Amino acid sequence: MAHNEFFTLAPALAADQTLSPTLAINQRVKELWAAGEQVYHLGFGESRFPVHPKIRAALIAHADAKSYLSSLGIPELRAAVADFYTKRMGVEATPDRVIVAPGSKPLLYAFQMALAGDTILPTPSWVSYAPQARLLNRSVLRIPASPADEHRLTADALRQTLAQSSEKQHILILNSPSNPTGQMLAPELLAEIAEVCRATHTLVLSDEIYALTAHGHQPHVSMAHFYPEGTVVLGGLSKHLSLGGWRLGVAIVPPGAAGQQLLAAVNKIGGEIWSCVSAPVQYAALAAYADDPEILAYIAECTRLHAARTQHLWRGLCELDIPCARPDGGFYLYPSFDGWRGALAGAGVFTSDDLARHLLDKWRIATLPGTAFGSPPDELSLRLSSSYVDMESDAQAAALLARHRSGVDADALVRDHHPALAGALGNLRAFLASLHE
Ligand SMILES: Cc1ncc(COP(=O)(O)O)c(C=O)c1O
Repeated sequence: MAHNEFFTLAPALAADQTLSPTLAINQRVKELWAAGEQVYHLGFGESRFPVHPKIRAALIAHADAKSYLSSLGIPELRAAVADFYTKRMGVEATPDRVIVAPGSKPLLYAFQMALAGDTILPTPSWVSYAPQARLLNRSVLRIPASPADEHRLTADALRQTLAQSSEKQHILILNSPSNPTGQMLAPELLAEIAEVCRATHTLVLSDEIYALTAHGHQPHVSMAHFYPEGTVVLGGLSKHLSLGGWRLGVAIVPPGAAGQQLLAAVNKIGGEIWSCVSAPVQYAALAAYADDPEILAYIAECTRLHAARTQHLWRGLCELDIPCARPDGGFYLYPSFDGWRGALAGAGVFTSDDLARHLLDKWRIATLPGTAFGSPPDELSLRLSSSYVDMESDAQAAALLARHRSGVDADALVRDHHPALAGALGNLRAFLASLHE
């Protein structure tokens, strides 16, 4: 509804005020749970581990910090982030290139607002990039990719998409490891993409928020390593430290005068919209970015469990012959059900939206449809998340961690103490068997 008797909505919101698909599915699962239904929740991506005690103590110790702070972030935190990225993430950073904000999401929005040009997105890509661009009345061009090639991004496909833009400058948003596919962009590909970007005046917003959740079989390499002059690196505490609700995101702009001009523009947006990150959270973040061996060990421990859970789900899909790229990091998978298209049509399923609905209604498996990530509606891809199953409550998450610490190896933990994950795979098997009847 674009207008009523009292007001008219702004054009960017008049056509679409639907809730983000992630929030909508979560709402529906909660309703089913409240009605006593067993639902396997593979629809919501949220790292669920407890707050690290040192970070918790830092937050409590600064509860009295109540003044407004600089919209760039406190100097100590900007310095800590720069050191951490230089030492741990392979991004040579200096404090004057860092800005912090209430999450990387508002930073992604602010950078899109600050820069001219079309937004270029791989397909599939995270749910919020395209809606943010639409709110800003920016054009989005999608780089096509096929499930047959595991949706792999190529420099050629990027080149072809850029050729369709009539703008002088372009903004490419990369996300490695990826939500929704879990894939990392290999260093050779990043080097090729850097060449294309240099030649076409394309700036990269490199969303590396899952970098510290790499599963270990492939190291994470930042796009800034190949394209320092044109890459903004984004990250935060939401994933590797399970602090999504604390709202702390960081960005590092390119070195030099151009980077400073961009930082000033984003800082202006931050200053006019969110003012600053909550003061106690900034002091807690100081502990998180202190390069403290205890906290680094905790990040590695949580990542080990994410990896075991996600790789287990991936192996389960492989055993069912469901095509799916092997995830390299994070807690997502993006399987394709295109091979069952004929049988699914018989069940009234023609699109990924239909498929997600069917799986929830008939098989009590919550997923997100590929359409939420920009895949064409008739491509039968779904995003599965391993992060919520068997960690539906904070108590369950803490209990799993405690069991792991008592000496149960991560793989054994997933095999023997993950009834919901086993149930979800069992229902998937039954669903596929029903299609062959
Ligand atoms: C790829 C990606 N980028 C950014 C975000 C936003 O994270 P935050 O705003 O909590 O920093 C998310 C959260 O789901 C994500 O999956």
